[in-house]
Amino acid sequence: MPMSKPTPTPMSTPMSTPMSTPMSTPTPMSMSMSMSSTIPIPRTLPGALFTLFTLPSVYRPQADTRLLAAALAQEELGPHTDVLEIGTGTGVLALHAARRGAATVTAVDVSWPAVVTARMNALLHRLPLRVLHGDFAERTHGRRFDLIVTNPPYVPAPGTRLPPRGAERAWDAGPDGRLVIDRICEAAASLLRPGGALLMVHSGMCGAETTVDRLTGEGLSATIAARASVPWGPVLRSRRTWLERQGLAAADEQREELVVIRARNL
Ligand SMILES: C[S@@+](CC[C@H](N)C(=O)[O-])C[C@H]1O[C@@H](n2cnc3c(N)ncnc32)[C@H](O)[C@@H]1O
Repeated sequence: MPMSKPTPTPMSTPMSTPMSTPMSTPTPMSMSMSMSSTIPIPRTLPGALFTLFTLPSVYRPQADTRLLAAALAQEELGPHTDVLEIGTGTGVLALHAARRGAATVTAVDVSWPAVVTARMNALLHRLPLRVLHGDFAERTHGRRFDLIVTNPPYVPAPGTRLPPRGAERAWDAGPDGRLVIDRICEAAASLLRPGGALLMVHSGMCGAETTVDRLTGEGLSATIAARASVPWGPVLRSRRTWLERQGLAAADEQREELVVIRARNL
């Protein structure tokens, strides 16, 4: 899982370098070409370099962020596109959408440090983001968007409830890793305008097909748009025994598959 541990965080992270986490060794990431569309993970986020201000405990962009950014780069954005980012962290994906000319970009995060960080980065880069604090469903209720991007918490964790605070809030997501993913699947149809699209990245460990099925069950057309294989990060390594006991990982497993799910509101 490309999740950084809450190591002391520098106040700015140059996005031009590989992510400075234990996960971000210069190991090349390999792509599975089995699906209809594949998107290589770029070493940097697409577009020009973003220098990011990052408060401690805020999730710094990693391989999952980059894979999602590559998928976002393939979407048409224009002066009529309203974008929502669920769980914005540093705001980097929302900033990309804003720089590409989306009409409006709304970003939401439950973490105050993330909200402050994203607002600071919007100011730093002079890009118009509306950054809201709170749970995505509460803060966006009644609104509709043309594109939703999200890298939600998705790491399977022993607790049955989401962490109320701390850096783990960015990754821990209940025993099957789906506590937030499933809520996003349920909400997608009501958050998207007709023809609108959802891009969501998560680990294959929590079930790519399950996400496709849930979204399809909500009336959307969903596919796995990209897959990528990355080495296990420190969070997965720290809970190897538990993951193996849960049947979520094989004894010698060293790599994790990331998937990007793309769903369209028909
Ligand atoms: C894996 S991080 C992704 C950060 C950033 N989008 C990226 O890709 O680098 C997940 C983020 O979702 C936020 N989050 C968790 N639950 C949420 C919820 N219910 N509503 C909104 N944000 C949430 C966390 O605080 C965290 O910042």
